[in-house]
Amino acid sequence: MIRDFLVWLATQVGKGPGEYDPSWSEALASTLNVWGLLEGTHVLSLMLFAGTIFLVDFRLLGWGFRRTPVSVISDRVLPLTVFGFLLMVTTGLLLFYAKPLLYYHNLWFRLKLIFLAVAAINIFVFHFRVQKDRDAWDTAEKPPAKARLSATVSILSWIAVITFGRFIAYDWFECGKPLPHWANVAQECAISERGAIDLTEMTK
Ligand code: HEM
Repeated sequence: MIRDFLVWLATQVGKGPGEYDPSWSEALASTLNVWGLLEGTHVLSLMLFAGTIFLVDFRLLGWGFRRTPVSVISDRVLPLTVFGFLLMVTTGLLLFYAKPLLYYHNLWFRLKLIFLAVAAINIFVFHFRVQKDRDAWDTAEKPPAKARLSATVSILSWIAVITFGRFIAYDWFECGKPLPHWANVAQECAISERGAIDLTEMTK
């Protein structure tokens, strides 16, 4: 079902009356500069987004700015983090929109989305649970274990998102190549344009 929707998104939305008229997705994918600009902005906004998140996480771990209250760092930095996040999500969705089927069957993209979800859940738990009693530890040089745990999950999950994001461009596990069975299954290669070739089939 998701794949059918992505096929429609990639081939029908914005398509002109002519047989060879491109859809908006195909038009975006065929632009050199616009796509490059999106990719570049996606990478650059990473500095703003991940850089500011790590700053707050280091304070929560008691690794830096120990004499500055957590609220001061968090309140000053948060607007930049949110702006960076909105830039990342907007450019990310447009990058995805340009080649939805390629990314849908991409192992690294799937892993990235899983860790994006982990990072998002961690943000919610922190904002609505962990920092509820922040006044009690706002000036503590070493915040309580729950705050440090939240910061650790944050740093590890964003490192995973960034690493898997970087791996997306590499075709190590591309559908249509001889792959371990688990990789074909994890990427649903069997229903992809390139199909699935199991390594075990090759060695028989
Ligand atoms: C907010 C958190 C996000 C972070 C930290 C992040 C990080 C990254 C990084 C580091 C790359 C590699 C860029 C490069 O060096 O080539 C990347 C690529 C990519 N990201 Fe994101 N991303 C985020 C959100 C998203 C979202 C929400 C989407 C779409 C649903 C997305 C779609 C993509 C795509 C399609 C690529 C691959 C571009 C290519 O073909 O190389 N990203 N991301």
